[in-house]
Amino acid sequence: MSEKEAVRARAPRAKITAPAVIEMKRRGEPIVVVTAYDHPTAVIADEAGVEILLVGDSVGTVLLGYESTLPVTMEDILHHTRAVARAKPAALVVADMPFMSYQVSVEQAVLNAGRLVQEGGADAIKLEGGDRVAPAVRRIVEIGIPVMGHLGLTPQSVLAFGGYKVQARGEADQERLAREARLLEECGCFALVLEGIPARLGQTVTRGLRVPTIGIGAGVQCDGQVLVSHDLLGLFLGRQPKFVRRYAELADGMREAYARFVADVKARRFPGDAESY
Ligand code: KIV
Repeated sequence: MSEKEAVRARAPRAKITAPAVIEMKRRGEPIVVVTAYDHPTAVIADEAGVEILLVGDSVGTVLLGYESTLPVTMEDILHHTRAVARAKPAALVVADMPFMSYQVSVEQAVLNAGRLVQEGGADAIKLEGGDRVAPAVRRIVEIGIPVMGHLGLTPQSVLAFGGYKVQARGEADQERLAREARLLEECGCFALVLEGIPARLGQTVTRGLRVPTIGIGAGVQCDGQVLVSHDLLGLFLGRQPKFVRRYAELADGMREAYARFVADVKARRFPGDAESY
């Protein structure tokens, strides 16, 4: 059976929940996460067996043409989360909280997390940071919204980092990150994204937690892995980080398809009889 046939033959999956994701770590089953910003991507990735669809604020750089994730708004994330949620995937839908939607106060963070669930249809939310977001995480979890944390190379801090650089290379920073990971677990996070950190640290943090770590440039020992869909599909035209593996070259396929359409229209080969009434 080909991989395509195997995907189509797969039995419908039960809805994946935040507790089910924790249970996957307990069973030692790797967790697969990709970004999704639109309905067809959500349907296709869900059919392929992805466990978590992340409506990342990377939508800003990947789809909207921004140079960073900082300009992304609540309205942007709501718009894309609705499109993904309408696919009714078995995968857990996690909506990213954009810059300035949770930093000002705990109250604002709770209200915005609530909007992503109530208006967007998200099953969970994600936010970046450790100590400084702990009170907000605690409160959001208390009201019943599952929270995914995010430590390491957190893109919303790109200005403070002075660029997209691997984080926590020194001993003090490593100790701080490991402590913040434990704090986020204690505050109730059901999973943590670890981005752009040494693989050895990814392994240490993973071993020290009950909840799963999802790595992106954090080594193979994390409990799961996440990639931006457009990166893995070869559809992103910007800078490609070292941690990306491309599983397709869709940009090449698109270029070729557009060029053939242009040639057919110019030569009056399209539409043919079959495409005409
Ligand atoms: O926004 C995003 O896509 C993310 C992932 C890279 C983890 O936060």
